[in-house]
Amino acid sequence: MKLVIGADHGGFDLKENIKEYLKEQQIAFTDYGTLTPERCDYPVVAKKVAEAVADGTFDCGILICGTGIGIGIAANKVHGIRAALCHDMFSAEYSRRHNDANILTMGGRVIGPGLAREIVRIFLNTGFDGGRHAERVAMITKMDK
Ligand code: RB5
Repeated sequence: MKLVIGADHGGFDLKENIKEYLKEQQIAFTDYGTLTPERCDYPVVAKKVAEAVADGTFDCGILICGTGIGIGIAANKVHGIRAALCHDMFSAEYSRRHNDANILTMGGRVIGPGLAREIVRIFLNTGFDGGRHAERVAMITKMDK
C-alpha cells in the first residue's frame, strides 16, 4: 500500500504525530508537506495529494487541516477522489466499506492524537464491501467528469 500524507498549518502537529504512529507501525508513507508550522494554503496541499492519489502514484492519502473540512472540499474537486472527513471510528470504517474512500481527512483542531491514530488504523485496515456500493461509487465517479 502506497500512502501519502499532507496537511496545512492547522493540521501540522497532528500530521507529525500520525507520522510517528505510521513509523511505529512500520507503514511506509510519503509526506507532501507542509513541512513547517508556518501558515500556508490548504488547497495547495490538497491538490498535490489528491492528484497523486487520482493518478495512481499512491493508493490512498491522509489530509489534515484545522477542521478537516476545507482540505477535504478541495481534494474532492479532483476527479476520482473520494475524501472522507472522519472524526470517529464508525465513520472511518464505513468510509472504506461503503464509499471506498481513498483519502481520509481529519481536523487537527478537532480531535486528539489518540483518536486520530485509531481512525487511521481503521481506515488503512478496512476494505471496500463492493457489490451495491460499487454501483453507487461508480455513479459518483461519473458525476465529476
Ligand atoms: C486555517 O486557519 C484553517 O482555516 C484550515 O486549517 C482549515 O480548518 C480549513 O478548513
